[in-house]
Amino acid sequence: MHFHILTLFPEMVLNGLGTSITGRAMANNLLSVEAVNIRDYANNKHNRVDDYPYGGGAGMLMQAEPVYGAYRAVEDSIQERTGKEGRTRVVYLSPQGGTFSQSMAEEFAKEEDLILLCGHYEGIDERVLEEIVTDYVSIGDYVLTGGELPAMVIVDAVSRLIPGVLHNDTSAEFESFQDNLLEYPQYTRPASFMEREVPPILLSGNHPKVEEWRRQQSILRTMERRPDLMEKAELTKQDIKFIKSLDK
Ligand code: ADE
Repeated sequence: MHFHILTLFPEMVLNGLGTSITGRAMANNLLSVEAVNIRDYANNKHNRVDDYPYGGGAGMLMQAEPVYGAYRAVEDSIQERTGKEGRTRVVYLSPQGGTFSQSMAEEFAKEEDLILLCGHYEGIDERVLEEIVTDYVSIGDYVLTGGELPAMVIVDAVSRLIPGVLHNDTSAEFESFQDNLLEYPQYTRPASFMEREVPPILLSGNHPKVEEWRRQQSILRTMERRPDLMEKAELTKQDIKFIKSLDK
């Protein structure tokens, strides 16, 4: 998969994503991250990409032309590489977008190319957004100084769904948000730590019992920490029986 990040701070995203698991995946050609500097598409000799908002008000806005120039260059190179005519999905990172979720990550992971547009200052001229953006995405209800960290969050979450990026193919499956439940607690050696013992069932070697215990722990944890998820949880008959037994 090819990520293309339109940004005023290319080194920020490349340094962050070049590290750890995404960095290894890039080295193994499982994914590529191209950071395109919007400033390279400034149309004035001072390389300015911001200006005052019409109508007045605080702050500066990113101008439409450099953003469009950066987008056009990326879209043209994608079309040249793939020979496909269709438009590439362009995600604009903004607190005004829908909240990013695991299901959005799964949807984005189906794309061959994804363009991520990072804003700065007080935002971007609306006209270029209307022209190029297909998805408005927020990573949560708080305001950051720019879209770079949110773009990195999206690349990270999507990357780990690409086959081969995680060592263990099953580890992307059995984790928080599988069936909309949180992951069960996990333990490693030593078996005793500060007088806290590993739950004995995990040392029993009885795999069906271990699986049953883990499922029940997932349910209990979700009910306690994220009760809002329980409405969407995909529960089996056995799960429902377990939940009913808790009332007794
Ligand atoms: N840009 C600034 N804040 C943001 C947020 N919470 N999510 C996505 N992009 C942003």
